[in-house]
Amino acid sequence: MDAFSLLGPPLRLLDPETAHHLTLWALERGFAPRATESDDPLLATEVWGRRFENPLGLSAGFDKDARVMAPMLGLGFGFVEVGSITPRPQPGNPKPRIFRLPEDAAVINRLGFNNGGIEAAAARLKAFRQAAVPGLVGVNLGKNKDTAEAADDYAHGAALLAPLADYLVVNVSSPNTPGLRALQGRGELEDLLGRVMAVLPDPAPPLLLKIAPDLTAEDKADIADVCLAVGVAGIIATNTTIARPEGLKGKARGEAGGLSGRPLFDPSTAVLSDLYRLTEGKLPLIGVGGVTSGADAYRKIRAGASLVQLYTALAYRGPTLVGRIKKELAQLLREDGFETLAAAVGADHRYSG
Ligand SMILES: Cc1cc2nc3c(=O)[nH]c(=O)nc-3n(C[C@H](O)[C@H](O)[C@H](O)COP(=O)(O)O)c2cc1C
Repeated sequence: MDAFSLLGPPLRLLDPETAHHLTLWALERGFAPRATESDDPLLATEVWGRRFENPLGLSAGFDKDARVMAPMLGLGFGFVEVGSITPRPQPGNPKPRIFRLPEDAAVINRLGFNNGGIEAAAARLKAFRQAAVPGLVGVNLGKNKDTAEAADDYAHGAALLAPLADYLVVNVSSPNTPGLRALQGRGELEDLLGRVMAVLPDPAPPLLLKIAPDLTAEDKADIADVCLAVGVAGIIATNTTIARPEGLKGKARGEAGGLSGRPLFDPSTAVLSDLYRLTEGKLPLIGVGGVTSGADAYRKIRAGASLVQLYTALAYRGPTLVGRIKKELAQLLREDGFETLAAAVGADHRYSG
């Protein structure tokens, strides 16, 4: 996808996946704008004992193979999440498999975990760690399409990549791998997370679960219970949606896959808010889905997010979006009298009783 207008408007004329490859190619070669201003101290926050200079992160899927962590941190993100990474390399679904819905500021993708596998990613992550670039990197784990026993893949990924990750994510919410989202059911989730926790080295990075927006009330209650019971460190809400909200205008709206971008903002924020309530604010949450402005990031934080991520808006708004969101967010926090970012987390739940 045309991650941003790094190469100028002609990227928009290319099909989204070609444009994305070109963007990664350019980023790897250093053709990346760099944030020049240091972060407003009001945006700094500590989560899982780690200091984030700002709470805005790049969500999974942009840098599936851990190729451009340093340039993306250089744009001003406080953290970058790479992946989803599967144990073995796999090609993903047939192309075309990414579709722009420009009228809706949205994207539909059905990539199906195309990635170069753990070994290649581990080598790049090792080199990145040796370079001691400031900023945090999370590693998002998936499963290969043809693996019958899903837990084997997640356990394998967790054991190998834990030493290289500031946090690990078990992603059971992508809509493009058959059977994956069924792992969000209570029994499946208990087994899966138990297996992954058992292989983590000591010390281990925090283990997070990434969930879908398309969940019943019972699913959400089960997820909250299981996460608290097995000692998961946090939850990422949410992945893309298989729903097609009323009013989508983009010609591609009928394509199969997961919808991201603006139409996902409300449903994903509702799930985030539910999870904050169900976990009684005990687990740090990462809010993601449709964030396009500082006001959106602020709404996620007030709904319960300790950290916020985005992907799709970057493709439409370009790299200056990162600085803009941070500036707006700091201003909104100040206007409402918050002295720290952490004080605003979940504020909506407290003030609405
Ligand atoms: C092209 C594309 C690929 C994605 N790939 C992944 C992935 O591999 N793993 C994952 O957990 N989420 C993936 N996502 C989901 C995003 O990380 C994010 O949860 C979702 O897009 C909502 O955020 P947004 O509206 O800001 O894009 C992908 C999203 C897009 C648009």
